[in-house]
Amino acid sequence: MATAATETEEIPEIQHEEHKQPPHPEGPKQKFRADYTAPPFTVTTVHLDFILGEETTDVTAKIHFVPNYGQLAAGAPPPPLVLDGRKDIKLLSVALGGRVLGEGEYEVSDKHLTIKAPPAGEFEAVIVTQLRPQDNSLLEGLYKSSGNFCTQCEAEGFRGITYFLDRPDVMAKYTTRMEADASLYPVLLGNGNLAESGQMEGGRHYAVWVDPYPKPCYLFALVAGKLAMKEREYTTGSGRKVALRIFVQEGNLGRVDHALDSLVKSMQWDEQVYGLEYDLDLFNIVAVDDFNMGAMENKSLNIFNSRLVLASPQTATDLDYSRIEGVVGHEYFHNWTGNRVTCRDWFQLTLKEGLTVFRDQEFSADMNSRPVKRIEDVMMLRSSQFTEDAGPMAHPIRPESYIKMDNFYTVTVYEKGSEVVRLYHTLLGAEGFRKGMDLYFQRHDGHAVTCDDFRAAMADANGVDLEALGRWYSQAGTPQLHVTTSYDAASRTYRLHCKQRTPPTPGQEEKLPVLIPIKMGLLGPDGSELPLKLQGADGSVQDLGTEGVLRFDTPEATFTFLEVPAEPVPSLLRGFSAPVKMELEGQSEQHLTFLLANDADAFNRWEAGQRLWEAGQRLSRKLLLQLYAAAAAGGGAHSPQAVAERCAAAGGVPDNLVEAFRAVLTDPDLDGSFKSMAVMLPTGSELLDAIQGGDPPLLHHVRTWVVRQLAARLRPELEQLIKDNDDAPGTPYVFNAAACARRALKNRCLTMLSTLEEPGITAMLLRRFNEAANMTDEISALSALVELAGPERDQALQAFYDKFKGEPLVLLKWLGLQATSNAPGNLALVKSLVDHEAFNITNPNNCYSLFLGFGRSPVNFHAADGSGYQFMGDAVLRVDGINHQVAARMVSAFTTWRQYDTERQAMMRAQLERIVAHKGLSENVFEIASKSLK
Ligand code: TRP
Ligand code: ZN
Repeated sequence: MATAATETEEIPEIQHEEHKQPPHPEGPKQKFRADYTAPPFTVTTVHLDFILGEETTDVTAKIHFVPNYGQLAAGAPPPPLVLDGRKDIKLLSVALGGRVLGEGEYEVSDKHLTIKAPPAGEFEAVIVTQLRPQDNSLLEGLYKSSGNFCTQCEAEGFRGITYFLDRPDVMAKYTTRMEADASLYPVLLGNGNLAESGQMEGGRHYAVWVDPYPKPCYLFALVAGKLAMKEREYTTGSGRKVALRIFVQEGNLGRVDHALDSLVKSMQWDEQVYGLEYDLDLFNIVAVDDFNMGAMENKSLNIFNSRLVLASPQTATDLDYSRIEGVVGHEYFHNWTGNRVTCRDWFQLTLKEGLTVFRDQEFSADMNSRPVKRIEDVMMLRSSQFTEDAGPMAHPIRPESYIKMDNFYTVTVYEKGSEVVRLYHTLLGAEGFRKGMDLYFQRHDGHAVTCDDFRAAMADANGVDLEALGRWYSQAGTPQLHVTTSYDAASRTYRLHCKQRTPPTPGQEEKLPVLIPIKMGLLGPDGSELPLKLQGADGSVQDLGTEGVLRFDTPEATFTFLEVPAEPVPSLLRGFSAPVKMELEGQSEQHLTFLLANDADAFNRWEAGQRLWEAGQRLSRKLLLQLYAAAAAGGGAHSPQAVAERCAAAGGVPDNLVEAFRAVLTDPDLDGSFKSMAVMLPTGSELLDAIQGGDPPLLHHVRTWVVRQLAARLRPELEQLIKDNDDAPGTPYVFNAAACARRALKNRCLTMLSTLEEPGITAMLLRRFNEAANMTDEISALSALVELAGPERDQALQAFYDKFKGEPLVLLKWLGLQATSNAPGNLALVKSLVDHEAFNITNPNNCYSLFLGFGRSPVNFHAADGSGYQFMGDAVLRVDGINHQVAARMVSAFTTWRQYDTERQAMMRAQLERIVAHKGLSENVFEIASKSLK
């Protein structure tokens, strides 16, 4: 049995002409949403019995099948039963209705077990398979992590355990029996309730778990291992007592309180906001070190990547604390949105993920600062999802086809999917949205449904037509919203002329208009909000108060406001009310400065600051063009020094940008986290999205130069804020919005100052690094030091390593910082880290920190000689021999290749071609690499 199953023979050899073909290649690989048909058989109950062993694990699956093929023609036999499987599981026997089948009665291939002539009517199949979990490096199905057994079945991992109808619309009741060595695996966990357990001969023991709720097999889970546990009792609103338990490796028991607190808060929040209670007496969370993704919502047995459970002030940052809170919430919320109501097929993934991300975002907003959370989410959307939507992997939130479903757990399905759910919330209001959710559960509890079912529930509960939202599910690409304004003083009318256009995406040339809810207000000259009197098509006047939502769903429309006393400053798309790129023509720097100071909507205040930078950035873009010209004439790379000189010669950073930032920094009414985000420049990836043929290192140097100018000119304010927000020595770490805000602002100021590269500042950073009382301050100082050349860098890195040698989660930060560093020539260091004793290539977190971290370095990944690309190409192929999902995420570093200059395009393309041509490549990597080349 192969360690990492690769299904080479089924991957078509890539010919270059294939890239020109429409996205319907030959072969059975591509699955289409349009091809959905109900399964010919379904399953009512599954009894699984695991004999867990060191060499082999035997699984006996007793499956009760029920015909679903409808009425057979007289005398016609039932269709064959085709079950999904995987190359690395060994079939020991198959029996139907108590009779063991002979060789000729079934067929086994790498992917299927076909029972040729199943009996008519219901029947029971008993299938025995043999697994080698310790050799399963894919981390899908049953595998071992740190000596413990665990499972991961979403999306299609259950077929790595037994032969089954591995699709979410087959829902059954599960019973799990497992037996194992009692000393090696004292803890035995399954879904549902523990029904029975006991000792056996030979030092073994067993447990039987019964899950009363029908579920698809992707929610099945099992854990067997040596684990410590912390427990808390929770009482639901209706008085039901629930035992909450978190299982971790022995030494980590002191780091689970934050996750437990987050779980309790999640349960309370879901009761308060949605009236949803937990439905069993037991809720377990298990932390494992080897995990492909963040966490998994298996029924009553959530399995988490340990980095999303474990936290202590000394080892986790504020960001880690907030991610843990968000992900614990996310997985818990899946119990209703995902588990009780699940997806009919994997094309509907956003039904559960978009909705559950929306729910976790709202939860985090309620627990912390709402505007700050919104800004963070939009920053993420713009830097990751907009890029994906503009590239070769662009797909609608409900994709039309896939080769490997794993590749569609994307920022589009999750984050844009959440934005689409937010559209309902914006249009219907909180109350209307709740009515829709209530009807959704009333209709679909216990069923596997579609995105259309969700939209219908929302529409029917509110008696409105929401068909206009349908295109958000079928069209890829980020819609562009173009707005012009006009004011007529004589008639005191103000008009917004809106146009929309969605750019073509691969395989989708023509786009139709979508419904864009534009949440807005109008500001009078004194900054106050003006009453909104919107003229209807029939001449009627609608009074919107001071904030309204415009429904814009045609290619063009004009919205007319009456009785507007003076030309207002518009505040549009408040709270980012739709995932679009808006251009407001004639929005002057004066308007932006005014909005930054006065807008009632905190999100739009931040947005105004971002746009101000963009207005200033026109200058940088001019600079970039000059630099390209200079480089073309003189050849060679652009040193930071040369960039600085040219930027300075071109006039530097405009005064109004500096003054606007100064005003934000010194505003006593603004929240510290908000300030820290308001003075941040748009990310490199966001800017590259806007530049044709961009040169990432050059852009990085320009951006760094601008930060340095801001730091120099805002220095007194930055130094004052550091003083004001520094905690007195001995202050204990607490995780709450106020404390996080102080740390965020202080550390942002310190990071800005560090770019000045003055010996005094560097020494202060090193002192702060050495004396830091929590990981947030420690890692912030270290990241600033890592960007500087000099002895302090090496000294700090070494000290950090010595301190955290035995802490694999903290060393992920250490690996990531070094990998992402823009220090010139850093590739050599990164290469040496691959062989470092702290690095383990079979662990996904390690790969993500080191390889994906390296892919985020504009200077070293995008080095002009192609060395960064070569390194990454080699790494993708090496990791693909171990874990296909991880390798597929790594190869995504190349998918943006069309954004860059021609030399870089050629080099990145060459890497993709080399990868696609590689013998034995996984389907996961093949799909992403080949689609990028098209
Ligand atoms: N359903 C999980 C979530 O979003 C995602 C997930 C966990 C996953 N592990 C996975 C998806 C493995 C694909 C493969 O919460
Ligand atoms: Zn999820």
